[in-house]
Amino acid sequence: MKNIAIFASGNGSNAENIIKFFRGSETACVTLVLSNKANAYVLQRAKALEVPTRVFGRESLKDGLVLSSLQEAQIDFIILAGFLWLLPASLIRAYPDQIINIHPSLLPKYGGKGMYGNKVHQAVIENGETESGITIHLVNEEYDKGKILLQARVDVNPEDTPDSLAMKIHQLEYQHFPEVIQKQVVVH
Ligand code: GAR
Repeated sequence: MKNIAIFASGNGSNAENIIKFFRGSETACVTLVLSNKANAYVLQRAKALEVPTRVFGRESLKDGLVLSSLQEAQIDFIILAGFLWLLPASLIRAYPDQIINIHPSLLPKYGGKGMYGNKVHQAVIENGETESGITIHLVNEEYDKGKILLQARVDVNPEDTPDSLAMKIHQLEYQHFPEVIQKQVVVH
């Protein structure tokens, strides 16, 4: 059984979906949820589902404290589910091909620093795109540039708003993210 830690900065609906999915799995289990924000709703979701939580600051991410607490908790895989910060190289090197991120666009479009949540959907709509989607990828040392594991598409209609597009994108995320994680855990 592999141990998964989820990093999330906000609402945490993907985190909740992943926790529930792996409750029925013999392959892996979510054993820790970490956030850089003490008031992130994801922490309440995790507590309600009886998953231990930790809050950390930039310093402990950089100086290796987060890494040592992951190792202490015997974490095998790290899932970024709406996590805002870039991970330090030391953490990425400690978990080669074991860190997976989800991004709410068809990378390489609308990726990079500062492209997060509704900002992405706003840009997609402003540019008149007729489709968008999700990208699930391995994490390397650059924002949104690791090996792509899966992309899935959705139509963008003229009447879509950032919120309506976010809802469609979230549905795709709930549908695909847990299974891609499961596959990666098995092949690794
Ligand atoms: C998700 O749509 C995820 O793809 C996005 O944040 C949202 C978090 O929603 N991630 C990024 O934008 C990363 N650059 P959630 O907190 O409800 O899971």
